[in-house]
Amino acid sequence: MTAEKILPTIAILGGTGNEGPGLALRWAKYGFQVIIGSRQLEKARATAEKLNKELGIQTIEGYDNSTAARKADLCVLTVVQSAHEQAIESLKNDLKGKILVDTTARVDYRDPRPPAPPAAARLAQEKLGDQVRVVAAFQNVPAASLRNNLDEPLEEDLLICADDPDDAAEVAKLAEALGMNVYYAGNLDNAVVIEGLTSILISINKYYRSRTASIQITGIKKE
Ligand SMILES: NC(=O)c1ccc[n+]([C@@H]2O[C@H](COP(=O)([O-])OP(=O)(O)OC[C@H]3O[C@@H](n4cnc5c(N)ncnc54)[C@H](OP(=O)(O)O)[C@@H]3O)[C@@H](O)[C@H]2O)c1
Repeated sequence: MTAEKILPTIAILGGTGNEGPGLALRWAKYGFQVIIGSRQLEKARATAEKLNKELGIQTIEGYDNSTAARKADLCVLTVVQSAHEQAIESLKNDLKGKILVDTTARVDYRDPRPPAPPAAARLAQEKLGDQVRVVAAFQNVPAASLRNNLDEPLEEDLLICADDPDDAAEVAKLAEALGMNVYYAGNLDNAVVIEGLTSILISINKYYRSRTASIQITGIKKE
């Protein structure tokens, strides 16, 4: 008899936009229990229903952000970058005891420039305090790559920052499930550089008329 693998329940807060549904589709397809969070319950339910339909499943649920966070083992924040601070503030109590994966890259698509330090994820960690473990990840993963070719693994690499490498390792498992090659890239202060890389990737996309520029690391042999 083989032991059944127990996968964490993932809440995607602000999961009704571009990035959130892409992550939701990929994780739900792999077998994770996924919850879509929104400020509006009906919007969360409608997105969950649409994604379930796309995959031919019924497991994705939709709740308001607060309930979604409380029901999950691990939360992923995908609210629009301008709402980052407000969202963090309003979800502070719901996130206690959990890992929060912050995907925020504070870059304006119309005029891409690298943001100034501190990193969005560092700001989140400061606001949330030590009862929440913030991990910065997915800032360089375009929504278009997540949503397209769902049957193919994501070929790009992923940089993860966290103050505790063990927290990064938890999140690495979620990305590896999607086929990604993951690198721990230091503490949350470094995440501002990863946000800045998004500015570069958007600029590359614009110049080469693409939507899926991403990164790959060379020179590392993992044990
Ligand atoms: N798009 C990409 O390719 C990409 C790639 C890498 C990283 N990211 C990062 O992922 C995050 C989401 O990007 P996105 O393109 O998915 O954004 P988006 O579609 O513009 O917005 C995502 C969600 O944010 C929520 N929201 C809007 N205003 C809010 C407010 N005042 N308070 C709380 N929630 C609010 C909305 O959800 P409700 O109305 O349902 O509450 C909306 O569906 C950003 O931080 C971005 O930097 C995006």
